[in-house]
Amino acid sequence: MRMGTAEVATRRTGGSTWWRDAVVYQLYIRSFADGNGDGIGDIAGIRARLGHLRDLGVDAVWINPWYPSPMTDGGYDVADYRAVEPVFGTAEEAGALVDEAHALGLRVILDIVPNHSSDQHNWFRQALAAAPGSPERALYHFRPGRGPGGEEPPNDWRSVFGGSAWTRVTDGGEPGEWYLHLFDATQPDLNWADPRVQAEFESILRFWFDRGVDGFRIDVAHGLVKSDGLPDLGGDGENMLAPVERTDHPHWDRDGVHEIYRGWRRVGDSYPDPRVFVAEAWVDSPERLARYLRPDELHTAFNFDFLRTPWDAEALRKAIDHSLATVAEVGAPPTWVLSNHDVVRHVSRLGRPVTNGAGHSLSDLAPATTLDRELGRRRARAAALLMFALPGGAYVYQGDELGLWEVEDLPDEVLQDPTWKRSGNTDRGRDGCRVPLPWSGTAPPFGFSQDGARSTPWLPQPADFASVTVEAQEDDPASMLSLYRAALALRHEHPALGDGEFTWLPSGPGVLAFSRGSGFACVVNLSDSPVPLPAGATVLLGSGPGIADGALPPDAAAWLAV
Ligand code: NOJ
Ligand code: CA
Repeated sequence: MRMGTAEVATRRTGGSTWWRDAVVYQLYIRSFADGNGDGIGDIAGIRARLGHLRDLGVDAVWINPWYPSPMTDGGYDVADYRAVEPVFGTAEEAGALVDEAHALGLRVILDIVPNHSSDQHNWFRQALAAAPGSPERALYHFRPGRGPGGEEPPNDWRSVFGGSAWTRVTDGGEPGEWYLHLFDATQPDLNWADPRVQAEFESILRFWFDRGVDGFRIDVAHGLVKSDGLPDLGGDGENMLAPVERTDHPHWDRDGVHEIYRGWRRVGDSYPDPRVFVAEAWVDSPERLARYLRPDELHTAFNFDFLRTPWDAEALRKAIDHSLATVAEVGAPPTWVLSNHDVVRHVSRLGRPVTNGAGHSLSDLAPATTLDRELGRRRARAAALLMFALPGGAYVYQGDELGLWEVEDLPDEVLQDPTWKRSGNTDRGRDGCRVPLPWSGTAPPFGFSQDGARSTPWLPQPADFASVTVEAQEDDPASMLSLYRAALALRHEHPALGDGEFTWLPSGPGVLAFSRGSGFACVVNLSDSPVPLPAGATVLLGSGPGIADGALPPDAAAWLAV
């Protein structure tokens, strides 16, 4: 589905509220496309494949961190916020990518990582070289240890990736102070109580905005402010990305973060074509999330509540209602997301029972042997039509449009997620959703790197990716790729979709049905038996076969003209 130039131009100038219902494609740069044959995705690879995004019909891209980094956490360990990692390319290539994306009508959102830097960042190196109590150390959280010789960490906080959140340094050749890292030990937390940190990040925002970047995704937006005195967590021990049901948590979702984002909003609004923010905030409830979206704060936030909701009509109805109601109170649009680089791909989540928690990590799911991939794929198709029919914005994680599944049998020795080591090899981490994309051909690297590349992809691709390459799906009207293209094209054309009215329609148990404005309805069947479609409705788009004859099979969705 190609657009004419005039249409592209309208979309790009489409007003300062484009972000209210944008479909944003997440580019996990290491795994999208490799332009120089070293087995790692890069900017050249993205530039060569922009046509895929244009044909898919998304409105914007969000690019995971592309800054110089030792890559101990896939680039979320930033050594220099104003440059580009040489493995990914050069500053010139980055600029060219932004221009080329704009020319195709695509906005570009970068990822900013303000909670922590890399331990290789100049600031942290200088802090290590400086003495306890120095201004250099005040940019991070350094503290003496507890116990007689200071051998115990300063408090009981836990790293999200496992183990203590503190690591001890040496001072003058002797065991010295400890520094805080809520993630890996190579990711020291910055001290946002220091005004130099605040000033530095506002300057970094301007640096990229001045280069045409349209916005930022804010990493760990809920983590920046720590409680004075860094008090113990107490009994609740675990400390994961998942919400923490506690109103006064010492390091998650503290009220102080909001003042920081008011400052960022002022920076964004100082540009003629306002720049936008999306928060990655794993908070307790849609109410807490809405606080990030007050009119003088951030524009949007990922709605992880939707991602964490099981394939159950009543649960989804509740999650949708709750999300819509809370963002409406602050005048922000909702967003919807099914997968990203931190959670199990939704084909693999939806195709088996959730045994525990929210179902977004492997440990929440029944063993891989219980996975019915066809069921997962069928539900993923229905979930996509549900998501794209809801009001507001939506996120597509690269490979969702191909129906990729979690690769659960990566050999131990290739695993790179710090979670694997820090958990003492008990949690395999997030590599399974980060395997390089299959583009073409019948054997690895499936066009991810060009034929004859000197290196194999940084994570091995399974042989059965052959059936889901872009090439294999492109001309198959029944493929996931064709469904995504058709849905996004219709979403652009249909005046009822995107931002706007939403009303539930009466439906039987296990069924979700709603209208968007007049003339459009979406029905999703999550029950075990077929349900009749409303009399007189015409099917505009169905998630699978067997829909046109007036009935909707189980695990299917339809868009209807009513
Ligand atoms: C959230 C990012 O999405 C994840 O990949 C990263 O490990 C943590 N933040 C730490 O930056
Ligand atoms: Ca490369």
